[in-house]
Amino acid sequence: KIIAAITGVQGYVPEDVLTNADLAKIVDTTDEWIISRTGIKERRILRGEGQGTSVMGAEAVKKLLEKTNTKPEEVDLLICATVTPDHFFPSTANLICDKVGISFNASYDIAAACSGFLNALVTGAMFIESGRYKKVIVVGADKMSAIVDYTDRSTCVLFGDGAGAVLLEPSSDGLGLQDFILKSDGSGANHLIQKGGGSAYPPTYETIDNKWHHIHQEGQAVFKFAVTRMADVSAEIMERNNLSGDDVAFLVPHQANKRIIDATANRMGVGPEKVMLNIHKYGNTTAATIPLCLWDYESQLKKGDNLILAAFGGGFTWGSVYLKW
Ligand code: ACO
Repeated sequence: KIIAAITGVQGYVPEDVLTNADLAKIVDTTDEWIISRTGIKERRILRGEGQGTSVMGAEAVKKLLEKTNTKPEEVDLLICATVTPDHFFPSTANLICDKVGISFNASYDIAAACSGFLNALVTGAMFIESGRYKKVIVVGADKMSAIVDYTDRSTCVLFGDGAGAVLLEPSSDGLGLQDFILKSDGSGANHLIQKGGGSAYPPTYETIDNKWHHIHQEGQAVFKFAVTRMADVSAEIMERNNLSGDDVAFLVPHQANKRIIDATANRMGVGPEKVMLNIHKYGNTTAATIPLCLWDYESQLKKGDNLILAAFGGGFTWGSVYLKW
């Protein structure tokens, strides 16, 4: 059986840092509140006119190609998970390919909010497992600053911008994607939504006055959902693969809130030293959090390590992936 393995990982974050102290100057908040409720200290912001998500995705992919000695023409497929595409069309994946010199391959976007990277990863892996493709790049990238309302203290402190990319190739030694669970429940749509700008409510002065082009989030409803679902799905994938907390080298959780991450690790029986964390540096970068974690912790990973990736997000969507590094 062909298994898809991650053979390279690369992240990119913009240079501009937005600290909790900076936010305290524009909304009624404090560094202490943000750290204690979320674990976030600072986040990165992509600035500049016309600078969209593809700019960050392309930076990550460019370095990934160099690092893995991959020629652009060898890439069969590039999938980009994002909810902040540069435009509705062409896709951000198309734009990334153009920026890095990949052409005449397949490329498209996947939208599953914060679970986007896991959905894209599994989709890419299926093309490898089928034997159809040999090199697939999966990008998770979001410029959340483009849709955050910087007058709403309950959301603006949470999000940041960033991108991460992985290369998937067939593995011959059994390493790679072992199992996955992907779920969704559209009845949760109104709890976490960018209501305007799409076909239901195309942009008008009224939608803009109503701030429907910004993220609307019912924080506590999302929190409750996240704590149960992300833990359920992580526990389920461990159980059906006969893994105990001791067998897991790292939990790689979506970085939305440190308290949600702690609750998930606790339920899995995984100690804090085995939890990948970078929320303090980048905040919630939506589809980019998991590849950015893999990138940050790359030097600590050993061949054969059991990793449980877990995410939840708008939709609602949630899921977990078990892979051997
Ligand atoms: N600074 C100071 N006070 C604040 C801030 C802030 N930045 N934000 C909210 N508050 C206030 C509220 O107004 C409220 O005040 P009140 O009691 O006078 O009404 C008080 O703090 C408590 O608010 P809660 O909403 O109960 O705070 P909570 O502990 O739930 O934390 C948070 C809020 C951080 C948003 C939390 O609910 C959360 O993390 N939810 C999940 C969010 C999430 O994970 N979203 C990403 C989903 S992924 C995706 O797909 C995009």
